[in-house]
Amino acid sequence: MMSGMEWVFTALGAVVVIYYGVKLLFFTRMLYPKRWFPLPKSFFLSMGEWAVVTGASEGIGRQYAFVLAEQGMNVVIMSRTKVTLDKVAKEISETTGRMVKVVVADFTKDNIFTDIEEELKYLDIGVLVNNVGMVPSAVPRRFLEDEDLDQTIMRIINCNVRTMVKMCKIILPGMENRRKGVIVNIASGIASIPFPMYSLYAASKIFVERFSQGLQAEYRDKGIIIQAVSPFGVSTRMVGYQPTNMTMLSPQDFVKSSLQYIRAGDKTYGTICHMFLGWLLLAIPSKILHTEFMLQGLKEYVEKKQAEKRPSSVMRET
Ligand SMILES: NC(=O)c1ccc[n+]([C@@H]2O[C@H](COP(=O)([O-])OP(=O)(O)OC[C@H]3O[C@@H](n4cnc5c(N)ncnc54)[C@H](OP(=O)(O)O)[C@@H]3O)[C@@H](O)[C@H]2O)c1
Repeated sequence: MMSGMEWVFTALGAVVVIYYGVKLLFFTRMLYPKRWFPLPKSFFLSMGEWAVVTGASEGIGRQYAFVLAEQGMNVVIMSRTKVTLDKVAKEISETTGRMVKVVVADFTKDNIFTDIEEELKYLDIGVLVNNVGMVPSAVPRRFLEDEDLDQTIMRIINCNVRTMVKMCKIILPGMENRRKGVIVNIASGIASIPFPMYSLYAASKIFVERFSQGLQAEYRDKGIIIQAVSPFGVSTRMVGYQPTNMTMLSPQDFVKSSLQYIRAGDKTYGTICHMFLGWLLLAIPSKILHTEFMLQGLKEYVEKKQAEKRPSSVMRET
């Protein structure tokens, strides 16, 4: 006969086993995205004729634009630099045969969204990738160490936060009317925890995550998929084109992988290795991560990497 305490411990053990069993099951789903979250061949095109990608002249955004065009969508590509956009537009249309519309916009600026709305007015937009993002500084630094802090605050909040919200405001109503659409909002793995020395950037990205998750709950029943994608390292201009390895992925590998998880929930790290990095980061107590020793270590590490790679930088502000 089991005593009361034995019952308690047995029940507790059962709960722990079930909890981790379910977690393991969810994890194994992530290992086989094609099997668990299959996408029909025409999935993206079935959402609408056009995809809109912000920050699409380079890096991750450029790759999303390419892949969506390969899926049969026409694409609107947006960034500040017309010559680069024109070059990318030519490459995409020559390779895929799809139409490409170039919209030049500086997302740090205030009064750009009326023009953007006008440019997008008559398009049947099925996919929006809110990709554009900036880091305040190449080198990790404390908030007050910024020489032009007011400008930096305005630029980062406008580019990383306001742009995503405004683009959703412009494009979501059409998706709601048609009861279909996909919105991908690019956050960042480092936003998994409060990330000192990149506090403003990491906080802007957790906004991206929370906003996406809330919005997904609001619009799931309207047939719209809204997902935050939170990569760690992707070898782009932002990180000084660091060499690729197990954790530093090429934009091609990252985007290919992340799109396989589009139906895997309101937040994804986009790849298995970045998911592990996320778990690792969450497992380290912040009491350790936030020590002065660690902050100094991070600063010295990035400075050393920068010195090795000059003139490009490890984490480049744009
Ligand atoms: N790379 C990584 O390791 C990493 C990790 C986590 C999250 N992310 C996030 O992923 C997204 C893409 O990053 P990435 O690495 O691909 O960056 P990237 O290589 O620096 O490319 C950024 C793109 O955005 C455009 N852009 C930058 N500032 C802009 C502005 N103010 N207005 C309009 N366009 C602007 C750039 O073109 P122009 O300069 O010509 O305007 C470029 O096309 C960002 O949101 C970033 O925070 C990246």
